This record gives sequence, structure tokens and C-alpha cells, in this order.
Amino acid sequence: MSRGLARHDPSEALRPVDWTGEHPPEYAKGSVPAHVAIIMDGNGRWANQRGLTRTQGHAAGEAVLLDVVAGALQAGVRHLSVYAFSTENWKRSPDEVRFLMGFNKDVLRRRRDQLDAWGVRVRWAGRRPRLWASVITELEEAERRTAGNDRMTLQMCVNYGGTMEIADAVRSIADDVAAGRLKPSGVTDRLVRSRMYNADIPDVDLYIRSSGEQRISNFLTLQGAYAEMVFLDRLWPDFTRQDLWRALDVYTGRDRRFGGAVDAPTA
Ligand code: FPP
Repeated sequence: MSRGLARHDPSEALRPVDWTGEHPPEYAKGSVPAHVAIIMDGNGRWANQRGLTRTQGHAAGEAVLLDVVAGALQAGVRHLSVYAFSTENWKRSPDEVRFLMGFNKDVLRRRRDQLDAWGVRVRWAGRRPRLWASVITELEEAERRTAGNDRMTLQMCVNYGGTMEIADAVRSIADDVAAGRLKPSGVTDRLVRSRMYNADIPDVDLYIRSSGEQRISNFLTLQGAYAEMVFLDRLWPDFTRQDLWRALDVYTGRDRRFGGAVDAPTA
């Protein structure tokens, strides 16, 4: 099957994104999640099963990411977040960390024009300290080039940790309180949310994790408070946009109550 990696043609920008000739199912109006967060897990296992190195598995995941972005555009998802490097991933071997830094930089450089042509706005969420300067440069360049796009946000979470993001928010609030700009009584749920890295992106509606693992690994911890979760038993390099559509389908069948519950007698 084609991975949907079309040649970059800027005139394609406003046309429907569908290079596979396949379409997502017809979802009921308003039922597509506005914000989908994906944990691209299983690259290492996929590679090791084939006698390859973990880094070769990551490399195989690049085309999948682009295919899934195209599939999300087709389905009408407004915000897609992907976990590309966590604040905990520094614990991996120096070789893998070095590879992932260079890889993130290269993926952004290689794919930014294609994403731009698709109308995707790239945004970065994560911490600066420790992150390679060259990766920050590419993230900011992708953000700058795509700033005018509004078809879908691709939030790249690089050197990102959900609890670190909350700590950064709390620290900025504490600074305001210490400086007398804010009273402790002014610290509300809304204020804390307003200090998130990309506070204007709505909460996560749906997490998808590939590979069969069932956890969120500190990804968008606050924003995912009421998210639905779909765990698919497929390693990331084998994942396709059809798997994304399958997860969206599962999501549309979920009953989201956000703490409210009503009687629904069945007999
Ligand atoms: C989360 O699980 C996985 C990550 C934070 C990112 C891993 C890196 C990639 C998939 C490569 C990036 C790919 C592209 C295409 C840019 P974890 O393994 O950190 O969490 P766990 O220890 O709980 O399993």
C-alpha cells in the first residue's frame, strides 16, 4: 500500500489529502475528536524482530508519521500531538539519544514543506534545557514557516514531560505571587491551564498508543484528564492511517460523561 508520501507540490495545498485513493469512514457530524495524541511506540521491538537496530526502527517510523498526518487531515482532526522525545528519554543509551536528536531535526527539515503544503501548522511543546540547539532551531523554523496554516495543528512534543509542564506552570505562577502580581486566591484551574506550553490547544480527546502497551507515559498529563484511550496491538512502523481511522471509529462509540451521569434505564 502506498504510504501517501506524495511528491511535494504546493498546488496540492488546498485539495483534499488522499494519495492512497482510500477514504476514512463517514463519521457522524461532530463525532471526530478535535485533539488526538499519539504515542508512537514499538519501533525498537519492530526493528529487533528483524535483526535491525532500534534506531533503524525509528527511521522506519518517519513515513508512518506522515501517513498518519495525512489520514488525520482526511478525517477532519483539528489537532494532532505526537510524542517524539520525552524528558525521560534521556535515560536511553547515548547512541539512541544522539540518533533521536539528529532524527527529530532531520524529520522536521525534510518534511516541513510537505506539512506546510498540506496546511498543517507545526507547534513545539517541550523544555529548552538539554535539548540540542539544532533541534530547537528546526522546531522554531517549522513553526515560523507554517504559522499561517489552520487546517490542522501538529504539536511536536520534543523534550516534553507532562509533569514537567505542570511544574513549569506552577513555577511561573509562584513567580507572579512572589512578585505581588497575583494573590494565592487567584490560582484557579483556568489559570494553571493558561500557563501550559500551548495553552490555546484544546484538551486531548483521544490518546492512541501503538504496540500494545497500555499507559500514557507522562504525555499531556493535565490536558488528558478526560481523554479516551485506544491501545492498538500494532508496532509503530506497521501502523497506517487505517489504524488511525479504526481508533477514531472506536472513539465515536464511547460515552464521554466528564463526571456527569444520568439515568438510562434499559428495561
Ligand atoms: C513514549 O514512550 C515514546 C516516546 C516519548 C518517543 C519515542 C521516540 C520515537 C517514537 C521516535 C520519534 C519518531 C518520529 C517519527 C519523530 P516511552 O518509551 O518513553 O515510555 P515508556 O518507558 O513508558 O514505555
